[in-house]
Amino acid sequence: MTKNTALWLNAKRADFIVGPAPSTEPLAGEIVVRVRAIAVNPMDRLVRSVGDLITPWLEYPFIAGSDVAGEVAAVGAGVTRFAIGDRVVGYAAGADKGHRAAEGGFQTYVVLKDYMTSPLPDTLSFEAASVLPLALSTAASALFERDYLALDRLSATPAANGKTLLIWGGSTSVGSNAIQLAVAAGYDVITTASPRNFDYVTKLGARQVFDYNSKNVVADIIKALRGRNLAGALAVGQGSALKCIKILGACEGNRFVAMTNPPASFDHVPAGTSRLLRLIPTLARVMIGGLSATIEARRNGVKTRMVWGSALLNSDVGPMIFETFLPSALKDGRFVAAPEPLVVGSGLGAISEALDRQLAGVSARKLVVTL
Ligand SMILES: NC(=O)c1ccc[n+]([C@@H]2O[C@H](COP(=O)([O-])OP(=O)(O)OC[C@H]3O[C@@H](n4cnc5c(N)ncnc54)[C@H](OP(=O)(O)O)[C@@H]3O)[C@@H](O)[C@H]2O)c1
Repeated sequence: MTKNTALWLNAKRADFIVGPAPSTEPLAGEIVVRVRAIAVNPMDRLVRSVGDLITPWLEYPFIAGSDVAGEVAAVGAGVTRFAIGDRVVGYAAGADKGHRAAEGGFQTYVVLKDYMTSPLPDTLSFEAASVLPLALSTAASALFERDYLALDRLSATPAANGKTLLIWGGSTSVGSNAIQLAVAAGYDVITTASPRNFDYVTKLGARQVFDYNSKNVVADIIKALRGRNLAGALAVGQGSALKCIKILGACEGNRFVAMTNPPASFDHVPAGTSRLLRLIPTLARVMIGGLSATIEARRNGVKTRMVWGSALLNSDVGPMIFETFLPSALKDGRFVAAPEPLVVGSGLGAISEALDRQLAGVSARKLVVTL
């Protein structure tokens, strides 16, 4: 293996710095991948600014990053699905409890779990594939983990099961994956997006889409769900949980909301100076928002739970997605890598700027850096 380089966080809330990194040999069940494309996620910013609150187990120096695509450079003992040179996409687990810096995605050579990696069809570029891992993992965890929505499992030939899933935020990266997974498991999907993305979510498989900015959206969705057997809701996006709670409270079926967002956003809490000035009111909003969601959920007879996007790392859902479902589904077009990548730079040094652009907002696009 040649020289490795990483984008380091040397201490809590430090600046990202590009520097040399050790070359790590894969353990049993692991592969090393020469990374060619990295997609950035809100989480990659948040582990820097509020990692002490949301990922307190991180040890420094630390390497962030979950979404990578590239070529296999080394294969650990017991790995039979991959050979050196294979083109792959995989989930980099560096930010998860019990994992190590060698598994962080923001480096030239990353260690991936075999069962969290999929081969790529020749037709899919590294850039396009790199949008998948965390958003797909979050959607799959929310939909299939027993502690969340516990939906029927995926099938290559899904038969309609007569149930409807509400996915709030269908045009987000998580939502784009959730729509496709739910359809592949036999569910009918109702979703929300801005009108500019109605066609986008419909092409992904949603049967009906509503504008989440409309003041009648809750009433309109309740009307659309009348007479349907609801499988629950996946709430993605700020403010989505309360809306989903209200909708589910008025419908028949599984009154369970899997939520990807905390009650208030930590997006604008800075890592450095004046952090406390932003953090304290944000924590107050989280507490108040959490309390009002709890009250509203009780009043509506709805259960809620925050999703941990990599819950599938420790269950049979991870292999179901990356080993069984994704390789053939990508190959035969049953599942597409969505949203489309927007390449914003090249080299690890471009990641900080990509994260700033991500914070400024994207619409049905995922920001990608090539290596
Ligand atoms: N809990 C976890 O483990 C976990 C894991 C991954 C992500 N997340 C969180 O989930 C959220 C989505 O992440 P992502 O990477 O999928 O986001 P993303 O792709 O960057 O989201 C961009 C999209 O968000 C939509 N959007 C903006 N405000 C919205 C709102 N209030 N309600 C619904 N949709 C809204 C926009 O849709 P339009 O352009 O159509 O308006 C836009 O297309 C983020 O807040 C992220 O932090 C949580």
